[in-house]
Amino acid sequence: MSAPADPELLAGLDAWRDLPAVHQPTWPDPEHLAAVRDRLASLPPLVFAGEADALRERLAEAGRGEAFVLQGGDCAESFADATADKIRNKVKILLQMAVVLTYGASMPVVKLGRMAGQYAKPRSSETETRDGLTLPVFRGDAVNGYEFTPEARTPDPERLLDAYRTSAVTLNLIRAFTTGGFASLKQVHEWNRGFTKNPAYARYEEIAAEIDRAIRFMSACGVDVESLRTVDMYSSHEALLLDYERPLTRIDSRTDLAYDCSAHFLWIGERTRAVDGVHVDYFSRVQNPLGVKLGPSVTGDDARRLMDVLNPTGEPGRITFITRMGSGTVRDALPALVEQVTADGRPVTWVCDPMHGNTITANGYKTRRFSDVMDEVAGFFEVHRALGTVPGGLHIELTGDDVTEVLGGSEEIDEEGLARRYETLVDPRLNHQQGLELAFQVTELLRGR
Ligand code: PEP
Ligand code: CO
Repeated sequence: MSAPADPELLAGLDAWRDLPAVHQPTWPDPEHLAAVRDRLASLPPLVFAGEADALRERLAEAGRGEAFVLQGGDCAESFADATADKIRNKVKILLQMAVVLTYGASMPVVKLGRMAGQYAKPRSSETETRDGLTLPVFRGDAVNGYEFTPEARTPDPERLLDAYRTSAVTLNLIRAFTTGGFASLKQVHEWNRGFTKNPAYARYEEIAAEIDRAIRFMSACGVDVESLRTVDMYSSHEALLLDYERPLTRIDSRTDLAYDCSAHFLWIGERTRAVDGVHVDYFSRVQNPLGVKLGPSVTGDDARRLMDVLNPTGEPGRITFITRMGSGTVRDALPALVEQVTADGRPVTWVCDPMHGNTITANGYKTRRFSDVMDEVAGFFEVHRALGTVPGGLHIELTGDDVTEVLGGSEEIDEEGLARRYETLVDPRLNHQQGLELAFQVTELLRGR
């Protein structure tokens, strides 16, 4: 991956250092930070440029309505949760949802984990005050600790190396699970059958039975369903910490172009998507497929300017616009945006994040209602259907464990119930059942039930 790089490209990759940084930690020791950056730059890439290119093609297919994207995982991954069980549970729920959605959409599902690198968060405030004590806000495990002590909350660059190592072990396990038989279609479908046998989810039994028949039909036709044992799963995280992303950016020897090899897909958040900001500048210079989160304040002009910088030539699959409007707003705010972007002519892939526009506080907890999440998804499909454009996928905060962070679902987590297992470090996640229920309800929506 090392080629004699074009000096202009290299200079461009460091242009962000002269631009005002937003949502970057204040590292107390610049020399320590510089040493960590050098170490990161010497370590192997976590993903390969060719894999990022393959994902770009898959996302282009999703943009044309030939595939459907499922992007999911924690709001903030933690180092402590990088255990075999928790990673397996997350891979398992993504695979289970993907099988249901493959059937529902009658399309291949592009599986994209918010995993193996989602360790840094943009925060609305620099500090947090508790009982008169003010400390730096928690910015994710790549920066500081969650514990409310001065030691934990002081940004520590060693954590960037921990983020790299934890990403590597997570990716290793994802690759093992998705190629070693764990992901076989029959196995994943068996798990889904187990889910629909629970009386709370009897409503989905019929769809599970149809999938069952489809698998038996394929077998009868001579399709070797046992051969469907491996799947592609890609990694993604928010493109936030430039002190991490820059050292992991490498020049691809095939093309002499730059790829951010910390993940296959990176997205620029709602708070850092200013068209003249550091994040848009930096990621315009790497070749990975990119996401940009778009909230209700975005205009068609903003979106077009983002395309001018991030995808001037209109390469399919390069940009995914991840809209997160809120259930009450999606039907009003999305149509004009989609119309103006469509009129531009350069292709984008539209994905719905039904989580971040629907955050509320209940019983002292940051939470979301499952019904609002589903309603935003429904609105997203309605708008695209009405305009004749393509609803390309979903971006979901979820976990494979039985947490109680989001209200509702058939097992009806209520406000009191939130306290039972509220474990997220930042935003509330769908639990295993709610994730699967979302996939079944999307299948119902796709059939216009
Ligand atoms: C997130 O995805 O966790 C996030 C912070 O989202 P947004 O940038 O859309 O607010
Ligand atoms: Co979040």
